[in-house]
Amino acid sequence: MALPPGPKGPPMLLTMHWLRRPFEFLEDCQERFGEAFTFRLPQLPPLVVFSNPEVVKTVFAEPGEALHAGAFNQSLSAFLGDKSVLMVDGAAHMRKRKLLMPPFHGERMLAYGDLMMELADDAIDALPEDGSFSLHERMNGIALDVIIRSIFGVERGPREREMKKSITELLEVMTWPPLLIPFMRTDLGPLSPWGRALRLLKKADDGLYEEIRARRVNNAGRQDILSLLVDARDEEGKPMEDTELRDELVTLLVAGHETTATALTWAMRWVLADPIVEDKLRSELDHAGELTPQKVQSLPYLDATAREALRLCPVIPIVGRILREPMTLGGCDLPAGVGVVCSIYLAHRRPEAYEDPTRFWPDRFLQKKLTPAEWFPFGGGIRRCIGMAFALFEMKMVLARLFRRTRMKLDSSGPIKPVRRSITLMPSEGLRVKLLSRVPREHHAA
Ligand code: HEM
Repeated sequence: MALPPGPKGPPMLLTMHWLRRPFEFLEDCQERFGEAFTFRLPQLPPLVVFSNPEVVKTVFAEPGEALHAGAFNQSLSAFLGDKSVLMVDGAAHMRKRKLLMPPFHGERMLAYGDLMMELADDAIDALPEDGSFSLHERMNGIALDVIIRSIFGVERGPREREMKKSITELLEVMTWPPLLIPFMRTDLGPLSPWGRALRLLKKADDGLYEEIRARRVNNAGRQDILSLLVDARDEEGKPMEDTELRDELVTLLVAGHETTATALTWAMRWVLADPIVEDKLRSELDHAGELTPQKVQSLPYLDATAREALRLCPVIPIVGRILREPMTLGGCDLPAGVGVVCSIYLAHRRPEAYEDPTRFWPDRFLQKKLTPAEWFPFGGGIRRCIGMAFALFEMKMVLARLFRRTRMKLDSSGPIKPVRRSITLMPSEGLRVKLLSRVPREHHAA
C-alpha cells in the first residue's frame, strides 16, 4: 500500500527541521503534499498526518483496539516509566484513567482554586519592577508550585524547597530537545546530558518513593492528589503499587506543569499585543466582583481567551497513535504498523472551522460552538488529557490575577516565534515583558 506522499531527505535533517520549527514544518508539508502527508522520524514507523475533522473524529471515536497511543508515546518512557498512563494501552490504560481522573474534576478540582490564586499572587508580588524579564520563567514557577502543592500537599518549607529543586533540575534536563532522539541517550558519565539526566532521575525518584511510603503509613484527612491516588482502588479493589504511583506522579508533574505554563505564556503574548482584547478582558474582570474560583470559572470572555490561545498556538502540535490493523482514513488505505497523527496545529487553522484563522480573536468561541474534532489542544477520545479541566481552570485563575493586579507590555528584541522546549512549543526568549504597574494584593484579596 502506498502511503500519502511527504518530505524526502536525510532523516536527521527532517528530524532537526521538525524539532526546531514544527509549525512551519507542518504548514510547509500541507502546502506541498495536501491534506494528508507522511513523514519519518528516527525509531518510529512512518507517520501519516491528518487534520480533516472527519478523520480526527474517527480517530478519537476508536475505542483503543486498533489505534494505540501508548505505543506512540514510547520515547518518553525512559523518564515517565513503562507503567505511566501515557505508555500503556487497552485494559491497563482504562484502569489507569479511572484511578487518575477523580482529583482532576468537579468540586475536587475547584478546591485547588484558592491555592492557584495564592501562588499566582505570590509570583505577581515577586515580579521585578525594573527591566524586562522572561514571563515563561515566571509562569513556569507558578505552574510548578501549583502542581507540587496540589499533588503532594506539602506546605512551604525545607521539604517543599528540596522537592522543588530536585524536580526542577530533572525537568530542565528532560526538556532538552535532543534527548527526544533515542541515540542521544547514552550514558557517558555524569557530565554527559543523558548521564546527568539519569542521575537526576534517580535523585528525584528517591524523593518520590520516600513521599509515597510516608503516605502509605499515614494518609488520614489529606486531600492532595497523591493521597487520593494512594487510597484509590480499581474495579477489583486493588490499589496502585509503589512503582505505578511513581510513574504516574512523574507523568503528572511533566504533563501538567510545562504545558500549562506555556499555554499561559502564549495567552499573555496574544492579549498584550491586542489592546481591544486586553480592554475587553480587563472590563470583564473589573465587573466580576470578588474573584472566587467559582466566579473565575464562569467568566465567558476569560474562558474564550484561554481557548483561543490554545487554538492559535497549541503547546503540543500533534497527537499520535500506532495502527494495529489495516484501516482506511481520509480515503487512504493504511497498513498495520504505521503511525496516525492528528495535527492539532493544522486543524486549528482550517478556514472552514475558523474565519480568519491566523487572527487572535477570542470572540469566535462566544459565537460558535466548535466540535471536539475542530478544537482539540488536549487531544481526544479515550486518550483526552486527564488534566484538561484543571489546566483550563489554572490558566483562568492565573490570567484573572495577572490582569486584575498588573499592567505589562511586551518587550521582545525581535519577532516572537514558537521555539521548542522538549514536547512543548513556547514563545521565543520565553516572552520578554516589562511590568508597568502593580496593584498591591490586599486591594484585590478574594
Ligand atoms: C494547557 C495544558 C495542557 C495541555 C495543552 C495538554 C495536552 C495534552 C495532550 C495533547 C495530550 C495527549 C492526548 C491524546 O493523545 O489524545 C495529553 C495527555 C495527558 N495529559 Fe495533558 N495537557 C495539559 C495539562 C495537563 C495537566 C495539568 C495534567 C495533569 C496534572 C495533564 C495530564 C495528562 C495525562 C495524564 C495525559 C495522558 C492521558 C492518556 O493517555 O489517557 N495534562 N495532554
